[in-house]
Amino acid sequence: MEIKKVRGFQDIYGDNAKKYRFIVETAREVFEKYNFQEIILPYVEDVSLFIRSVGEMTDIVQKEMYVFEDRGGRRVALRPEGTASAVRAFIEERMYAKGGYHKLFYEGAMFRYERPQAGRYRQFHQIGAEIFGVDSPLSDAELIKMVKDILDRLGIEARLEINTLGDFESRKRYMDALREYLKKTKDTLCDICKTRVKTNPLRVLDCKVEQCKQSTEDAPKITDFLPEERIERYVKLKEYLKALGIDFIENPRLVRGLDYYTDTVFEFITEKIGAQGTVAAGGRYDKLVEQLGGPPTPALGFAAGIERLMLLIDKVPSENLLTVVIPLTDEFNLTALKLSSLMRERGMKTELLLKAGSLKSKMKLANRFGARFVVFVSERPELKDMETGEQEVFETAEDIVDVLEKRVLV
Ligand code: HAM
Repeated sequence: MEIKKVRGFQDIYGDNAKKYRFIVETAREVFEKYNFQEIILPYVEDVSLFIRSVGEMTDIVQKEMYVFEDRGGRRVALRPEGTASAVRAFIEERMYAKGGYHKLFYEGAMFRYERPQAGRYRQFHQIGAEIFGVDSPLSDAELIKMVKDILDRLGIEARLEINTLGDFESRKRYMDALREYLKKTKDTLCDICKTRVKTNPLRVLDCKVEQCKQSTEDAPKITDFLPEERIERYVKLKEYLKALGIDFIENPRLVRGLDYYTDTVFEFITEKIGAQGTVAAGGRYDKLVEQLGGPPTPALGFAAGIERLMLLIDKVPSENLLTVVIPLTDEFNLTALKLSSLMRERGMKTELLLKAGSLKSKMKLANRFGARFVVFVSERPELKDMETGEQEVFETAEDIVDVLEKRVLV
């Protein structure tokens, strides 16, 4: 019996693989410009890392983690996100000992056992970045600008929503007030939110169910619970964003699904890909490094879902045109092999037609590869332009290379 892929997992190939690479490469170029350094993090971590960072009561930890015992009896998890690992590495590798501040970026697969739907998978991929050691709202503004730069370079439009969650102490007071409020309206909430009132009242605020939205319309607002300096910080950030010409919407319901955030949170959202419209998200987490055993270190970061970005890209920008090299008969195989090598050395995208057969079958294959030019290798090699149908004869195969170079490289 044929074996199928596991539910929620995907093969990314063909044009989708091109889009995937285009996104990662574009993001890398932007990270590079902002002077971020790459960190390649493990896919498996001690499960307690996520419990202590993402939060015991979050959906991710409660319902979505791939947890298992390895052969040595360790309780490990496939990482559901990258921030916790980045923080662990920051502490474990003693990066803080160098002083100053640190800017890291990463890319790769994340795993969450969610209900699969368009834009939501059980294995998905993120590009993300984290900054350790700065508390100035300058860094919040710069990070948001960097995400915007990536989206702009990909040609993706998304609206930016921001909010502030303040510090843990005021948030706790706010959560108590919110809980009191929600208890009164509990009967009108959806079943999931009924349990959230106790465990995670903030999440009730961003529930998508209409009745929950309505019953929280007059709920207390976090900004009424924050001390002056947290508000000032938020005001400063908004000022910086305006100065950078970045439009944003303040959304007091934006609370995020991970517990580690403090002060700034933000999401870039689009309506174009259905319910799973958040393409990039992040915020500040000034207490997390300390919570995980490191020295007090303010930090912030973001991650974007590559699959969601893929859904928003029509086409990757044009690549170099393909030339297919066809030895007319086996006796020209060696010449064709050498010619193809030379073309690749000169930077040309080249397919040496590897399969023997009739010329007709070879041309069929060349078409399937998307050949823009075909070189027929024989005594007198010929170059065919597949778009115009024009055919030219050359003295030697090398002569063709000079002519082709100008036509295929973009
Ligand atoms: P997150 O909001 O959980 O944040 O995920 C970030 C992005 O990953 C989402 O906005 C979405 O684009 C994508 N994503 C999440 N789950 C899925 C899924 N099941 N299928 C497809 N795409 C998905 C974080 O992960 C934080 N670590 C972000 C961060 C970094 N905060 C501070 N630093």
